[in-house]
Amino acid sequence: MVGSVNVDLVVEVASRPEAGETVTGSDLVTLPGGKGANQAIAAARLGGSVALLGRIGDDTPGKLALAALVAAGVDCADLATVAGTATGVALITLTPNGDNAIVVSPGANRALTPADVEATADRLRRAAVVTLQLELPFPTVSRAAELAAMAGVRVVLNLAPARQVPTTLMCLLDPLVVNEHEAAALLDFSGASGGTGSTLVVLAQRLRELGPRSAVITLGGAGAAFAGHDAAGIVPAPRVPALDTTGAGDAFVGALSLALARGHDLDAACRYGVRAGSFAVRGKGAQTSFPDAEDVPIPRGLTRR
Ligand code: ATP
Ligand code: RIB
Repeated sequence: MVGSVNVDLVVEVASRPEAGETVTGSDLVTLPGGKGANQAIAAARLGGSVALLGRIGDDTPGKLALAALVAAGVDCADLATVAGTATGVALITLTPNGDNAIVVSPGANRALTPADVEATADRLRRAAVVTLQLELPFPTVSRAAELAAMAGVRVVLNLAPARQVPTTLMCLLDPLVVNEHEAAALLDFSGASGGTGSTLVVLAQRLRELGPRSAVITLGGAGAAFAGHDAAGIVPAPRVPALDTTGAGDAFVGALSLALARGHDLDAACRYGVRAGSFAVRGKGAQTSFPDAEDVPIPRGLTRR
């Protein structure tokens, strides 16, 4: 994994304030987070061998984030501390229906450069899968995808937060993973929104037309839709009480990446991702609610590529 490391500052509120309004929330809870760290921990908890290339600040939040990664068994040899810089922070408000709203201050994540990625190119080339998100500087993400793809390593990009990306990067992805909002934004950026095809599988197929070899759309409580070169479909999610959806997408991406690294096909990897994501919404926090391999065993009968 090449990705962000944050601490999440979480406050529960009855409803979010409008502009100019102040509301009183719960006591503040500080938890390890960040999409890169979350996805690395999700895959490691499920039994994967995972390394994370990233940056933290030389502060107490950085120590908290590092301790969580080490406890999960993530290889942090390439997770360096940036002197005089704060660790990334995510300000999260959580409403009673389990939904979150997040503002991220990138902090040390901004310090990870394309040159840093090049310095670890040998490790990237030895990975089965390189998984990326967009909470790092874009040129850094782009370089990691190029180096991995040039070495024949499968590249998974969780395009979150959504932004426009060049077709040259899209063409390296297998799969592109987005949620429904990110899918809508991407199709809108490309001028491909609207049209007649409105089913979710058709939307995943339209995302493939932007360049990736395969595309996955996570659908919250409705599961996920996927489209690859030889198969497409919907994977429904189990009905579960959703206490906190923060990090559900990261649990999905971590589990999907692990299944792909183990040679399973996209359909099977999405089924595993959905089970991990749906487990994660049952508890509060991101990493704190992720399953381990006993909670979500890779079911027998999942097909390999
Ligand atoms: P987040 O940004 O909150 O981490 P996301 O928007 O990236 O999440 P979602 O599509 O909300 O991702 O959810 C990812 C996966 O988590 C889904 O595919 C599903 O398996 C599971 N999930 C999310 N919400 C629910 C829910 N209400 N009930 C059951 N499963 C859920
Ligand atoms: O996807 C959830 C994550 O997004 C949180 O842990 C927060 O750190 C933000 O990066």
